[in-house]
Amino acid sequence: MNSPKYKFIELAKITDGRGNLSFIEAERQVPFKIKRVYFIYDVPQNQIRGNHAHKKLHQLIIAISGSFNIILDDGITGRKKYRLSKPDIGIYISPMVWREFNNFSKDAVCLCIVSRFYENNDYIRKYEDFKKMIKKYV
Ligand code: TYD
Repeated sequence: MNSPKYKFIELAKITDGRGNLSFIEAERQVPFKIKRVYFIYDVPQNQIRGNHAHKKLHQLIIAISGSFNIILDDGITGRKKYRLSKPDIGIYISPMVWREFNNFSKDAVCLCIVSRFYENNDYIRKYEDFKKMIKKYV
């Protein structure tokens, strides 16, 4: 993973005879103030989610259960595919990265911990618009 705009974040994993525990604190494990948490689940096979980029949103994405693919395009290093499958490993994504999720396992829960409230006008929904806008950022 060599993008300047996203990276894996390994969370602490506290293990004892009762099982595992991981935690996320604003501005510690994630480099932003957490304002919203949402999760995507019960995704039918072959469905694609999150086919967009954000202008200002910072995000941490975690497969809190099950697994799914995340495809990232930062407009600099090209389109890359990763599989998220561990609750203690997330991907931090800064603004202006195109992202898609697919190949969800039946039990997959995609947890999204993000820096802003839901704002329709923060979305870039057309890939052509993203490609045009990214030229101004790089
Ligand atoms: P959408 O952005 O299409 O989901 P995905 O990123 O998985 O493709 O959101 C689906 C619907 O849910 C859309 O009508 C907007 C709404 N929504 C909210 O009301 N609040 C939220 O925090 C999110 C992420 C979506």
